[in-house]
Amino acid sequence: MKVFLQTFGCQMNKYDSEIMRSLLSKEGYKFTDDWQEADVILVNTCSVRQHAEERVYSYLGKWGKYKQIKKPNIIIGICGCMAQKEGMNLLDKMPYLNLVCGTYNIPKINEFVRHLLKTGGRRIETSEDYVDFPAPLYEAKENKLSAWIAIMRGCNNYCAYCVVPNVRGREISRPVEEIENEVKELARKGIKEVTLLGQNVNSYNIKYQKSPREIQGISGTKSSESFKDSRGNIKNDFALLLKKINDIEGIERIRFTTSHPKDMSIATIEAVRNLPKVCEHIHLALQSGSDKILKLMNRKYTRTQYQKLIEKIRENVPEVSITTDIMVGFPTETENDFMDTYNLVKEIEFDASYIFKYSTRPGTKAAELKDDVTEETKNERLNKLLSLQKRIAQKKNEKLIGKKVEVLVEKCDTKNSETMCIPELNKFQKCYVGKIRNFKSVSFQSDKDLIGKLVKIKITEVKRGLLYGNRIP
Ligand code: SAH
Ligand code: SF4
Ligand code: F3S
Repeated sequence: MKVFLQTFGCQMNKYDSEIMRSLLSKEGYKFTDDWQEADVILVNTCSVRQHAEERVYSYLGKWGKYKQIKKPNIIIGICGCMAQKEGMNLLDKMPYLNLVCGTYNIPKINEFVRHLLKTGGRRIETSEDYVDFPAPLYEAKENKLSAWIAIMRGCNNYCAYCVVPNVRGREISRPVEEIENEVKELARKGIKEVTLLGQNVNSYNIKYQKSPREIQGISGTKSSESFKDSRGNIKNDFALLLKKINDIEGIERIRFTTSHPKDMSIATIEAVRNLPKVCEHIHLALQSGSDKILKLMNRKYTRTQYQKLIEKIRENVPEVSITTDIMVGFPTETENDFMDTYNLVKEIEFDASYIFKYSTRPGTKAAELKDDVTEETKNERLNKLLSLQKRIAQKKNEKLIGKKVEVLVEKCDTKNSETMCIPELNKFQKCYVGKIRNFKSVSFQSDKDLIGKLVKIKITEVKRGLLYGNRIP
């Protein structure tokens, strides 16, 4: 039996897809990249913007038609955030759909697929009872150096525009020992870099909350402010977790995403500064530079607080790279509000910004407001910010020319071989690509097989937003 699995959405969704892939492989299913070959088509979905949902519907339309005309026994399933959000509506809308598997039910995918292949029936699984998620398998993939690990699930923040708390449920932190054991296992398998995942990793809480029902009713903030322990030392659960993972032998780099500004503690900033394996990169979503809009968004920080936080981070970790998410066209956003964002981006100079047009999500607080910024204005603001960010990134990249950096080599750089390396290539030289600690990619040549190694590179050039360099001893 062959499975085709398509994934949309954030890293947590990609991680969940790895879990599904591992579970199904263990049961003997083979995976195919060609959906027409598959007996089972699964799509792991995202609901964060309307556009993300529309893409899924268009794929489903294509697969559904194929099933009706050519291959009636094929099993088609929707998993993840859209499944959790839309539930029964999906089965009603799509007669060819067999499975709706919500975000909490992914660990039970084998049971569902087995049953549906036998019966050809239809099944909806969107219960919100918490189950443990197994770790994905990594053995299958050669040269794999990096792995994700969810340290928490769900979100309690209820940003006014955001559907995630509705589709991923209440925030639950995994027990620290469970995370440590999983990372130790990854290190044993040769993984060198782990990325700790959560919607808001700074509110990671060591007190394991097994049942979401027990903490239902908590909405808004769960404070994870750093606090003092009995000896007066600053203690913070996320910083402590970083420390514990830093102690694991074999792991060479630790990354984490995402951080919410309201919960970013001094202890975490100090952990980035002091712990040698924790990389100097912080993704810190700004969303807007206007206090009025931030308040409407329920972000719980002001423009000034965000500026101060950036100062604090840069003071402690001068070589840090800071990336962000920004939204344009939130309801009632005026030209002045937008310019507040524009000017703040200009002042802060992020290393990279992911910029989105606001999209109304039914069921969220912001959906009660009129989506009053026209598409044309949203596009204008988006393009203005994109070109500003491009200029900033170019300037920041150029500053790296001449610097010596440490690169974790990921793969042969086939894309750049064509444009940059082929003229000089001989049978001993190959082009490699990897990331430096602050998350930027660097391309370089070498005559040795360096995949999986940490090497020193001197940056020589920036071309089309990419860094190039030479290996140094
Ligand atoms: N938990 C993460 C964000 C997850 S969603 C965090 O808080 O940092 C990723 C990004 O999608 C958000 O930061 C936001 O910029 C964007 N986003 C979320 N809801 C959106 C909406 N309704 N319309 C447009 N963009 C949205
Ligand atoms: Fe959404 Fe806000 Fe939670 Fe991020 S912190 S997932 S933007 S509600
Ligand atoms: Fe991620 Fe999209 Fe769900 S951003 S949590 S896949 S709604």
